[in-house]
Amino acid sequence: MAPDKLVFVCGKFPCSCVSLDASLSQAASDRASSSVSNDLENNVSSNQMWGGRFAEGPSAIMREINASIPFDKALWRQDIAASKAHVAMLGAQSIISAQDATSIAHGLDAIAAEYEKDGVPEDWDLEDIHMTTESRLTALIGPVAGRLHTARSRNDQVATDFRLWVREAMEQVDSGLEQLQRALVIRASEHADSIMPGFTHLQTAQPVTLGHHLMAYYEMIRRDRSRFADAHLRLNECPLGSAALAGTGFPIDRSATSEALGFSRPTANSLDAVSDRDFALDYLMAAAQCSLHLSRLAEEFIIWASQPFGFVRLPDTLSTGSSIMPQKKNPDAAELVRGHAGRIIGNATALMVTMKGLPLAYSKDMQDDKPPVFDAASLLALSIAAMTGMVADSTFRTARMREAAELGYATATDLADWLVRQADIPFREAHHITGAAVKLAEEKGTSLDALTLGELQAIDPRIDDRVFAALSVDASVASRRSYGGTAPEQVRHQVAQARQQLGMDR
Ligand code: ARG
Repeated sequence: MAPDKLVFVCGKFPCSCVSLDASLSQAASDRASSSVSNDLENNVSSNQMWGGRFAEGPSAIMREINASIPFDKALWRQDIAASKAHVAMLGAQSIISAQDATSIAHGLDAIAAEYEKDGVPEDWDLEDIHMTTESRLTALIGPVAGRLHTARSRNDQVATDFRLWVREAMEQVDSGLEQLQRALVIRASEHADSIMPGFTHLQTAQPVTLGHHLMAYYEMIRRDRSRFADAHLRLNECPLGSAALAGTGFPIDRSATSEALGFSRPTANSLDAVSDRDFALDYLMAAAQCSLHLSRLAEEFIIWASQPFGFVRLPDTLSTGSSIMPQKKNPDAAELVRGHAGRIIGNATALMVTMKGLPLAYSKDMQDDKPPVFDAASLLALSIAAMTGMVADSTFRTARMREAAELGYATATDLADWLVRQADIPFREAHHITGAAVKLAEEKGTSLDALTLGELQAIDPRIDDRVFAALSVDASVASRRSYGGTAPEQVRHQVAQARQQLGMDR
């Protein structure tokens, strides 16, 4: 940042931070210091939850930088669920009375109803969702609310809430990806025989079927789902009861809270439980990999929809027009999916960098774990939905695809393979002979199968008229019957397997 600039943080999330130049920086610092003096004049007390040893309240800057409520209010459902599990356990273990446990649980239910109806209030002095809820509980049921925090800390509380949130995000991604897979399978089965050019280096390589191309993405998404499932397994241990970092002297039952919250087991080490965020990173890295696949699929649609290709007509519902060029239909949704991948990858990087230098156990840096995850989750959900719609509702222009496959000597490998198989010529020599045939066709401006038998025999007398059957794009595609290959029968096999995996025939 230039030395004469300073960034001042706004109170909103997403934060629209304003970069101020030097003339404004004075105003900013005035604001800061006047807020401090206002605090003192107004006799703002120290924080009610942890302020026992502080003589003064925090400055405005401190309150603003400290507050995570603008974003962690998204955790309110998880926070209340975890508190309810905790208080039920405290009651069952006679750590607090059954009566207190019941009134706390009722208070929490009442707060949930309020949040549902009116949203979560955002008071920076209450810092985060945990203190916001506890403060509201105190207002509703009085000092007994203070018993809820027995045998826990915000450190295990936030680790638990956040795991619950990420777990749900993983489940949502999985069902979105399943929809995308279904769309791919349906379109692949419609187009198991549709011929298009297959590319390497974006140069025509060999003819393939559109179904085969779409099923390639099915496979990528299948692995993405398995990455999320794998991360889900590792995430599903409950940190609650790890307390601040060292566990607690109260006779808590960690298995009970773990089970109540749907975890497989309690975490085994309290220091690890409050200070690692690898579950969030697992999520972000799986999200980054998945967004990368979506971005490549989006890129295919962008290229295919361009006029020189003309392979696909995008659904109107997922395209936009140009404000100046009436003929334009732009693939904006696909471009944004491609763009969002950059942001999702950035979010994964952000959290890795946040975590990399932190000693055990909790440090406040870790409060910054949430915005990248929340941002990635909403970008990913949108990207998946957009690509599902694009796959399901695009019109593939199969005649145009076939035409393109017939250009570019896509069956040259088939001629070489024919020479190997029918004339017992070593592949390297066959490659050479084929090169001469391509050169001649290029000079004549025709396709390979438009060369005459005489012309081909002049290149190599071992060629006979059976060769023409091998030179059509249909013959080429039909011949590639190896497992996983592009032949329509193989594509149908892949589709059948996929339908089984997805339970589509049940
Ligand atoms: N808002 C905090 C966070 O998101 C909660 C944990 C606070 N813990 C603490 N020791 N100050 O990380």
